[in-house]
Amino acid sequence: MAAITLTGLKKSYGNAHVIKGVDITIEDGEFCVFVGPSGCGKSTLLRMIAGLEDISGGTLDIGGRVVNDLPPKERGVAMVFQSYAIFPHMTVRENVAFGLTIAGDDKATKDAKVAEAARILQMEHLLERRPSQLSGGQRQRVAIGRAIVRKPQVFLFDEPLSNLDAALRMDMRMEIGKLHKALGATMVYVTHDQVEAMTLADKIVVLKDGLVQQIGSPMELYHNPANAFVAGFLGSPSMNFLDVDVQSVAADTVTVANAALKPVTVASKGIAFAPGDKARLGIRPQYLTPAEVGRGQLQGKVALTERLGAETVIEVTLRDDSPLIAALSRDAVYPLGSDMELTFDPAEAHVFAQADSPMKIAH
Ligand SMILES: Nc1ncnc2c1ncn2[C@@H]1O[C@H](COP(=O)(O)OP(=O)(O)OP(=O)(O)O)[C@@H](O)[C@H]1O
Ligand SMILES: [Mg+2]
Repeated sequence: MAAITLTGLKKSYGNAHVIKGVDITIEDGEFCVFVGPSGCGKSTLLRMIAGLEDISGGTLDIGGRVVNDLPPKERGVAMVFQSYAIFPHMTVRENVAFGLTIAGDDKATKDAKVAEAARILQMEHLLERRPSQLSGGQRQRVAIGRAIVRKPQVFLFDEPLSNLDAALRMDMRMEIGKLHKALGATMVYVTHDQVEAMTLADKIVVLKDGLVQQIGSPMELYHNPANAFVAGFLGSPSMNFLDVDVQSVAADTVTVANAALKPVTVASKGIAFAPGDKARLGIRPQYLTPAEVGRGQLQGKVALTERLGAETVIEVTLRDDSPLIAALSRDAVYPLGSDMELTFDPAEAHVFAQADSPMKIAH
């Protein structure tokens, strides 16, 4: 078991600065998830921890040792990749034991380690099969089994579930959560799937352009996002961002409004606003509820309704022509083009400086 500390970690390819000074502490036994958009540096950071990429600057400490210049096999880490590189001509048993064979372990030792891994991953009945006789989820388990038998201090996962279909993904996600509890090892997991991040992580690191945006527990990030990028990245459907005008400010609050929004007073969270400033108001779709005529804080017309059974997602075109998404936790029918008013609890809204841009992503 081992804690991992990244201090001022940097990576450049020539003039391309990919990781620009990252500080992260991952506790012993913690499940830490790196999230962020494509190209933000998640895999690079993981590969630096694994020893597969040179470190351009800063220090990497695993288990109390600076390992910057140690080769991968001396770092006590095992990595599981997105494309599970298992050998088609070997049985599951031989695949799982592969690293042990290379290390020169005897048959009895290998059999014992493979048996233990197979028990943990519930694949004892698959050991004599070849990869072609396995499902995608079972193949991924073989790849994880190969990591387990090495008894690493640290497991590194780079989008291990992204090749699986939705149902299998959910099963495997739960299995990885159980595996973490069973082994108690430190795990670092890269994904761009925010559901995986929210459900598996003790700690989430949100990255953008090679820099950390925020580090915290899933609920800290969800309820107290440090900026509009983090706020927009976590949660599905994504948070709505309204362009608003600051009407007045008080000690800890700010009152904002626009052509579609009646004045609302929200916590300013230390951001210095002045009357007349432009700002962004963030409201999660789940915190919007339809209101009676004249009672809503927001006015618009229904542009689209998606009925998902237990949930209804409505897109409303607000009076100032901006789109707004509301997610209701029930089935409901709202005719296209009908007038719609919505309310929300100001305590659930977030205000951001106008320059603080949210991430635009499709969920
Ligand atoms: N060998 C290389 N030379 C130059 N640039 C590179 C090299 N490898 C990666 N990069 C750049 O580094 C950045 C980070 O890449 P990385 O693979 O870490 O992204 P990522 O966050 O894992 O993205 P994805 O979600 O798409 O896997 C990208 O902009 C990429 O183009
Ligand atoms: Mg990647």
